[in-house]
Amino acid sequence: MSKVRLDKFLADANFGTRSHVKTLIKHGFIKVNSEVIKNPSFSFDPLKEKVFYNDQLISYEEEAVFLINKPKDYICSNIDELYPSILNLLPSELFKKLKIVGRLDVDTTGTLLITTNGKLVNYFTHPKNSINKTYFVKVNHKITPAMVEAVKRPIDIGKGEFSLPCELEIISDDSAKITLSEGKYHEIKRIFHAFNLEVLELDRLNIDKYSYTNYNLKQGEYYKFNEEELNDILSLIGG
Ligand code: URA
Repeated sequence: MSKVRLDKFLADANFGTRSHVKTLIKHGFIKVNSEVIKNPSFSFDPLKEKVFYNDQLISYEEEAVFLINKPKDYICSNIDELYPSILNLLPSELFKKLKIVGRLDVDTTGTLLITTNGKLVNYFTHPKNSINKTYFVKVNHKITPAMVEAVKRPIDIGKGEFSLPCELEIISDDSAKITLSEGKYHEIKRIFHAFNLEVLELDRLNIDKYSYTNYNLKQGEYYKFNEEELNDILSLIGG
């Protein structure tokens, strides 16, 4: 773990806004180990040093990001329903702290990010950030060049909704890669349904630059981001 600033540590531990925690620090309420620290930009290693507010220890919650290759028959929900939650495949001691970044259908496989950090979930799922997601898709009939052209414009996917322009790359008669920058409910199935095609297989290859193929993960296997990868992904939300 790298060093963090004392004001950021306290803000992340829900002690209030940066300006509020700066005031607490300047008024001498905070100790690092046994020393009162009055400098908000004081940097320390939270895994090695202990922080106290009014002599009460502030517990440090390490952030974590996991990338899992989701198998079929698991759901992207924090609780088991008809199928078990995907969280059953991750370290059980973290179960309560983990948040799933977006949703894949029960029969969809592939790249899924799971994290302790709620802001990261918001970043990856907020439509304004237009995060690209690429899927391998296999359907029941031929995919035509006309469809490749058609998806470049909004498609009526039913229930009054339209897809945003996306990219379709034919791989074989009945398989393709499709890249979307949004995530409406069942969106890919609904796009192909608009062409009278049924999706038989759907595998998310990547979310932005993150992919299970980078770590050779088989379905059901996960990877925990190392310190460098963690700092890199957290920098998307300002570290
Ligand atoms: N689109 C779908 O139809 N299903 C998914 O799981 C993801 C995207």
